[in-house]
Amino acid sequence: MEPKNFLNEKKSDRLNELFEFLRFPSVSAKSEHKGDIAACADWLANHMRNIGLDVQIMPTAGHPVVYGSKIYSPDKLTILYYGHYDVQPPEPLELWKTTPFEPLLENEYIIARGSTDDKGQLFTHLKAMEAYLATGQELPVNVKLMFEGEEEAGSDNLEKFIKDNTELLASDIVVISDTAQFGKNLPAVTYGLRGIAFVEAKVIGPNRDLHSGSFGGAIPNPINALARMIAKLHDDSGNVTIPGFYKNVKPISDWEKKQMKRLPFKKAEFLKKCGSKGLFADKKYTVLERIWSRPTLDINGITGGYQGEGGKTIIPSWASCKITMRLVPNQEPMDICKKLEKYLKKICPKYVECQVKIHGGAKGVVVPTDGPWLKAAGAAVKTGFGIEPVFIKEGGSIPVVGMFKQILGLDTLLLGWGQNDDNAHSPNERFSVNDFERGCYSALALLEELAKVGK
Ligand code: BES
Ligand code: MN
Ligand code: MN
Repeated sequence: MEPKNFLNEKKSDRLNELFEFLRFPSVSAKSEHKGDIAACADWLANHMRNIGLDVQIMPTAGHPVVYGSKIYSPDKLTILYYGHYDVQPPEPLELWKTTPFEPLLENEYIIARGSTDDKGQLFTHLKAMEAYLATGQELPVNVKLMFEGEEEAGSDNLEKFIKDNTELLASDIVVISDTAQFGKNLPAVTYGLRGIAFVEAKVIGPNRDLHSGSFGGAIPNPINALARMIAKLHDDSGNVTIPGFYKNVKPISDWEKKQMKRLPFKKAEFLKKCGSKGLFADKKYTVLERIWSRPTLDINGITGGYQGEGGKTIIPSWASCKITMRLVPNQEPMDICKKLEKYLKKICPKYVECQVKIHGGAKGVVVPTDGPWLKAAGAAVKTGFGIEPVFIKEGGSIPVVGMFKQILGLDTLLLGWGQNDDNAHSPNERFSVNDFERGCYSALALLEELAKVGK
């Protein structure tokens, strides 16, 4: 049997298997899920073994990496696949149509946490490999697969893992499906991702919460102080005010501007989909330029004082916030974190104390936009979707891409089967069965197309 026919026949089986995979609440951010992550890694490892891959679960200081391979001969091309089996926390639960870890099939959508980010997407490559191995055929290439359990928590232990395993991971090219298409029926090859830098700031005032009647007006309020500081992080046009923040930011190239202009994008539709009244930030840049090629600073959470039912008249003792910045290539995450720290300390009023915790981050990346790999990837997507893919960037981050380049010298093909409105990180995350299916067929074609390129 041809591998393609195997895919044709096994549609409902692979959907059921994906549902099994999605049932593990593999939330990497929360320590209470450590056991669920381990169970999910076990399930994935077993699944890969049953497909016919050589598999090991490799521990890290955090959650394990599931590693698999099928090596035929050094003459064949070697592809390194990466994906992540961990997921974002599902909260707020009340906004879900289903329990986040009990997948629901509704109107040809798979609704579950992890369906598009990234379990459903990484699964397409396993199903493509299975189609060969289950029909008694060799894969046309050597494959190595590395699925991590900490991507959504920042991939903190991955750099060491890659450095410790350079030989094991040595390959010719990396393939990742953890991005989106440009739109419905418009598949894409992604050539750039933003990086990220993560900092927490805490402002400390009086040694305990105080009565705001007896002390308010004289004793400073740390929440007020933090709010003033946060307000100073952008100017009125929405640009970030941290000194040196834009120093290494390159102007957007003409080639890139041309690529972006060719894409069908409607501002009004975009706003409507997001449920937002208007746009933020520098009017000099288009929406896609802002999201793909300009750095940002955002407060992701802010805490302090009383937030329970009713009121409580206090001057709180402290306030804190979580800040992430999206970076473009050439901006160093550590350097940017330190610049923010210095600036926060400078703009912090003298009557309170500011503590800054630097969590680090990941570099932004751009990958080559031409050459034989890209042609092969384009052809594979064309085969799977029946549509020529467009070139896009994404505003999100996948920390490993920069590490593969820096440590292993490898370029990555970012072939995403999802959609931007699949609700990744949101309630009711979903993945359309059609995109899952077309992903599987594209993954199958990719094996052949890359084999044709050879070493
Ligand atoms: N799959 C996403 C990356 C992504 C986001 C690609 C948007 C395309 C569009 C990935 O799982 C992710 O969410 N990454 C985090 C990384 C962070 C936790 C270090 C992100 O971008 O916030
Ligand atoms: Mn992801
Ligand atoms: Mn994610």
